Amino acid sequence: KVLILDFGSQVTQLIARRVREAAVYCEIHPNDVSDEFIRSFAPKAIILSGSHASTYEDHELRAPQAVWDLGVPVLGICYGMQTMAVQLGGKVEWSDHREFGYAEVRAHGHTKLLDGIQDHATLEGHGMLKVWMSHGDKVGMLPPGFKLMASTPSCPIAGMANEEKGYYAVQFHPEVTHTLKGQAMLTRFVRDIAGCKGDWIMGDYIAEAVAKIREQVGDEEVILGLSGGVDSSVAAALIHRAIGDQLTCVFVDHGLLRLNEGDMVMDMFAGKLHARVIRVDASELFLGQLAGVTDPEKKRKIIGGLFVDVFKAEAAKLKAGDGGHKGASFLAQGTIYPDVVESGGTKTKKAITIKSHHNVGGLPEQLGLKLLEPLRELFKDEVRALGVALGLPAEMVYRHPFPGPGLGVRILGEVKKDYADLLRRADAIFIEELRGWKDEATGKNWYDLTSQAFTVFLPVKSVGVMGDGRTYDYVVALRAVQTSDFMTADWAELPYGLLKKVSGRIINEVRGINRVTYDVSSKPPATIEWE
Ligand code: XMP
Repeated sequence: KVLILDFGSQVTQLIARRVREAAVYCEIHPNDVSDEFIRSFAPKAIILSGSHASTYEDHELRAPQAVWDLGVPVLGICYGMQTMAVQLGGKVEWSDHREFGYAEVRAHGHTKLLDGIQDHATLEGHGMLKVWMSHGDKVGMLPPGFKLMASTPSCPIAGMANEEKGYYAVQFHPEVTHTLKGQAMLTRFVRDIAGCKGDWIMGDYIAEAVAKIREQVGDEEVILGLSGGVDSSVAAALIHRAIGDQLTCVFVDHGLLRLNEGDMVMDMFAGKLHARVIRVDASELFLGQLAGVTDPEKKRKIIGGLFVDVFKAEAAKLKAGDGGHKGASFLAQGTIYPDVVESGGTKTKKAITIKSHHNVGGLPEQLGLKLLEPLRELFKDEVRALGVALGLPAEMVYRHPFPGPGLGVRILGEVKKDYADLLRRADAIFIEELRGWKDEATGKNWYDLTSQAFTVFLPVKSVGVMGDGRTYDYVVALRAVQTSDFMTADWAELPYGLLKKVSGRIINEVRGINRVTYDVSSKPPATIEWE
């Protein structure tokens, strides 16, 4: 296994992710763990992360001595390179201007780390690498025993190596995707240089995670808010695997879910996994409070507020315990790594609120519960792979995201039960056809080719003709977008044949809707949801 020492970089988790992608087990620990801890961890290799700090100003931020005493390969990245240089007798030059962005690095000599890894070669045969740089200070003098491994015009020592000891260091960031050959370098380091086998699989992750959850929870009990979304579902399945009936899931049905969604969630968790799930049917409460409300922000606040109230009431009951149960002391959440970065990592001033997102932050303190977040270190695609490995159906795990306020923000203006019922049926047809329509060029279906697709209910009526009769019915809009981060998005160029089929089916099968439109707005300036 590999030990990653974290000096506080924003992208340390990406190092872990790349090591896992090389099928090698790793753990991240703070840079100031004890020598004793490092010896007992017994890593086959150590990676020192980057940092926002400066080796010049911060004399405390160093790798523990055991890192150098253990005799295992060490890779320093960015700050990790600088602290390696300083600790092993080299020098770091202070700089008050930062280099940030793409750079082209030239490889020097032959090193096990970079040999054969390059984006292209110069006429003289030097390997060239496109990399991502982000640093102020830089190494100005190699430590004794080190040779130059890489350079750029503005950073003459961009990589260094002491191959006898297995020490390598780079000033750029191999863990980010902008460094095109970064995965190859990290794989080379952990597999070829450190000799890790590369036989670690998701199944092993489950075993490790299960052991950790058992240790953290002991014989106490846990509550989890199950939404039917990917993250909470995978968290529930994992925690259930670890502690069985010590977990109780609370599923709040606000009446604004997709067609058959509530039953599907119950069938999966209560039926197949035999987990303890409490289904709270709160649809009357939600629809009652939403009556007469048309303002999108007000609707969101009402739904978010009620959701927290209902969940809190259930959690309070569970905390108190009952017959066979002594009462919960943990609240589990499906927080994943990008959520951690978004909420804690950014120091920028808070952007203006475009839409107030459904948010249950602050709940654990209010309820006096400890927090259990077993997915905190994983990225979305890893969470999905974990879900499949835990036996959740692929359709559930690879579903498009669904907003917390649900159909409440897809029914424009006032939310009514009749509208929700029409919308659910129209939406189910759209999704079914997307799943069934294959793209010839890629062999994939259009559900997988889009990032998010859904139907929006427009509370306006238009005139139509059906058979011999005039109709005067509602309109729905189809929305399908392609995006990688949901911050910007393009509308998907769905095949006309598919749109035609969806429109024909909705108008024929859903009485009350006589017109279907397709939304051709990108984000920005439109948003993905209509409210
Ligand atoms: P917009 O409409 O802002 O949506 O372009 C971007 C992404 O966020 C989802 N979304 C939400 N997700 N609670 C959520 O959990 C919310 O309140 C919420 N509002 C929007 C939206 O579905 C899209 O994926």
